[in-house]
Amino acid sequence: MATPQPKGTILVTGAGGYVGGQIVREALESGFNVRITARTESSATRTISNYPSFASALSYTLVPDMTILESYAPAFADGAIEGIIHSASPVNFSPQDNVRDLLDPAIKGATTILEAARRFGRGKVRRVVVTSSFAAVVDPEKGVRPGYTYDEKDWNPVTWEGAVTAQKLTAYMASKTLAERAMWRWMDEHGDDVAFTLATICPPWVFGPYVRAPATRAALSESVLLLDDIVDGAAVPPFDYGGYADSREVAAAHVRALEAPDGVAGGQRFLVGQNFRYQAAVDGAREALPEARARLPVGKPGDRSPEDAHRFDGSKAARVLGVEYGTLKDTAVETYKQLFEIRKLEREEEEAKAKA
Ligand SMILES: NC(=O)c1ccc[n+]([C@@H]2O[C@H](COP(=O)([O-])OP(=O)(O)OC[C@H]3O[C@@H](n4cnc5c(N)ncnc54)[C@H](OP(=O)(O)O)[C@@H]3O)[C@@H](O)[C@H]2O)c1
Repeated sequence: MATPQPKGTILVTGAGGYVGGQIVREALESGFNVRITARTESSATRTISNYPSFASALSYTLVPDMTILESYAPAFADGAIEGIIHSASPVNFSPQDNVRDLLDPAIKGATTILEAARRFGRGKVRRVVVTSSFAAVVDPEKGVRPGYTYDEKDWNPVTWEGAVTAQKLTAYMASKTLAERAMWRWMDEHGDDVAFTLATICPPWVFGPYVRAPATRAALSESVLLLDDIVDGAAVPPFDYGGYADSREVAAAHVRALEAPDGVAGGQRFLVGQNFRYQAAVDGAREALPEARARLPVGKPGDRSPEDAHRFDGSKAARVLGVEYGTLKDTAVETYKQLFEIRKLEREEEEAKAKA
């Protein structure tokens, strides 16, 4: 790997997660010093151990509650932070209490990081990049929506009232929508008083590799679980939201959006990703991996129905940020390689327990 030019220090929240882990890798490989936030000492050290060759460029700060402004004071205490990538947000499709489990942490967490940059950032923070989601773009009420192409102008129309009573996945989608809206509103109110601009990255389902795969499937992100659920299953899932992005592309988009000049990325949303069908992911994995042929259902190879479903336009991220999209086959293969490895480790662990 070429030695990158040093680029200053950025703060990354959610670094212990699936997407956040790839963001940290991308930022380090691009030459940034990265300070991660973590809720506990053990999760901070676990995350840092994923990047052994970057030990001197990585530091951490504990933020036990990302909705409390003062929690962030230590992260900024040395005046080093010049950029922020805020990826932390609950990814939970089965909330027991929408407000407590999703809406409060997502929305208050989103505005608190902006407030922290203003209060503690000493005017040094130039850009805040946020992991929003296609969930904040798509209108779930419109379903398949034949002939429509979603792009950055679109917004999920959910309201707070709707969010409080929404069920499962739509509750999560509402949390992402209201969090992104709250951030743009905050920028409308305070943008003239701060030295930073905001950019948001809106990926649909994220698939592709972890920097280091979790030891158990229980720790997988909800999106990766969607592909895991197909293993040893009877059928290939039908169309749902029509788009996917590779975890490495999503990470690249965040870092490029952090680096890009104000006139290019500041104040912008970026949809990152491509059109998606589960059958295409299964076809690609089955072509490349013998274990996928043994364990993924055949479905209807080549079927891309519904042909006329809504489409996903991720071209702005490619054009403006230089994100290079790979193939769904590669993304599916890299995901399933890790998923099969996790299952193998789980089996070995069970066998070892049975023997003990
Ligand atoms: N996966 C997708 O398909 C997808 C698609 C679009 C957007 N996104 C967005 O990408 C981001 C990361 O998602 P992911 O898939 O990587 O999920 P993940 O693996 O579950 O990671 C979520 C991260 O957010 C942190 N987090 C969650 N709730 C928190 C809270 N209340 N306080 C502090 N930290 C909290 C977690 O911290 P701990 O490590 O301490 O638990 C973790 O680091 C989220 O903003 C998500 O909405 C994901």
